[in-house]
Amino acid sequence: MAEKKAQLKIDGIDQTFSLPVYSGTMGPDVIDVRGLSSQGIFTYDPGYVSTASCESQITYIDGANGVLLHRGYPIEQLAEKSDFLETAYLLLHGELPTSEQKDSFTNTIRHHTMVHDQIRTFFKGFRRDAHPMAVMCGVVGALSAFYHDSLDIREDHHRQVAAHRLIAKMPTLAAMVYKYSIGQPFMYPRNELSYSENFLHMMFNTPCEDKAVNPVLAQAMDKIFLLHADHEQNASTSTVRLAGSTGANPFACIAAGIAALWGPAHGGANEAVLKMLAEIGDEKNIDTYIKKAKDKNDSFRLMGFGHRVYKNYDPRAKVMKQTCDEVLSELGLEDDPMLKMAMKLEKIALEDEYFVQRGLYPNVDFYSGIILKAIGIPTELFTVIFATGRTPGWIAHWNEMISGDYRIGRPRQLYTGNTPRDY
Ligand code: CMC
Repeated sequence: MAEKKAQLKIDGIDQTFSLPVYSGTMGPDVIDVRGLSSQGIFTYDPGYVSTASCESQITYIDGANGVLLHRGYPIEQLAEKSDFLETAYLLLHGELPTSEQKDSFTNTIRHHTMVHDQIRTFFKGFRRDAHPMAVMCGVVGALSAFYHDSLDIREDHHRQVAAHRLIAKMPTLAAMVYKYSIGQPFMYPRNELSYSENFLHMMFNTPCEDKAVNPVLAQAMDKIFLLHADHEQNASTSTVRLAGSTGANPFACIAAGIAALWGPAHGGANEAVLKMLAEIGDEKNIDTYIKKAKDKNDSFRLMGFGHRVYKNYDPRAKVMKQTCDEVLSELGLEDDPMLKMAMKLEKIALEDEYFVQRGLYPNVDFYSGIILKAIGIPTELFTVIFATGRTPGWIAHWNEMISGDYRIGRPRQLYTGNTPRDY
């Protein structure tokens, strides 16, 4: 029961609406407007700036203070003490695993990394120069055509197996997309490797050359996956929930999430950062581009800066910056001209009044783009890496919704088109 009420009085309507107000464990209160539609009134909130679309216990963000918690644990502590698969377990199950649970979960994921062999032939239908996200949308959606034994969303066991399959197969598919694009044979996963080592092995080894994976790079990869693991009701997660609310199967829902993630305002930003740096071209052009970013008549935006929720430093970006320094130093790339330019851009934007006033700080994608480039991952694959990291979060939200009370997502509209007219 709500203890507080909000009163809504609308000019011209002789009635005051009393709306329940709910408090969460943290964060802003929410006004329950569900009763309004039966009174013939809708609320209007394009972009869902002021709308809580669901109740959730997975992730908490306080954008003003740069706080991100998964199941209550600060992201900085998880990045320091946990790893990607353990954080995935936490997101899915609500608690950190015991060491036996962790071993069992890691083992289960490890034994789901191979994909159905026919998926290998499926790839051949794509052009080799297709964008990796185009291929991912298709192939992940197509998993529902291969794994019929995990499609019944009402069955706990089916949902769990689908979750394991998705988390395990995403890096395999991501590496396959890359190998296909360069015409190299697909590499099978190897069970003695960790999740992130395995990904780098499938990306960069060939049947002719099987080199050990650099542990600093594997560690950085794991941090990138972990830092992207969830971010509450962002555009792609909301897409997964909306698709899921129709009863669609989990593979189809995650494919929908991948499609939503693709855009440059969301997951496509890490790719856009590198494209922007290439466009700027040289340190001497930075001032011109900063001016363009500030010019309201110019559509250019500084990619990798700003965030809908964080109006303070993105806590993930802090960790990512440190990992970025470690990777650049491990690879001896501190003097790489593009990376030096990125660091100069970051410094200027952090001091410029326009960016400071608007709370536009470098976001996680600014640094992850630089790290991924340094590791040798092609720019077009960056958003696929983001999708791989975000998969546990997507599934945790989908599962939370499916296991609780939910209705099909069906927003309403403010109609401003023609009134009835004769044909
Ligand atoms: N460069 C220049 N100006 C900017 C930028 C930017 N990157 N981002 C926001 N602004 C300005 C914007 O013009 C507006 O100015 P004013 O108040 O004078 O009109 C003000 O800052 C507020 O921006 P907004 O567009 O109202 O903010 P939003 O919450 O709708 O957009 C955003 C958030 C992330 C889409 C936007 O900051 C952006 O386009 N950033 C670049 C793309 C990017 O890096 N995206 C990755 C986000 S993090 C990863 C993820 O969560 O997916």
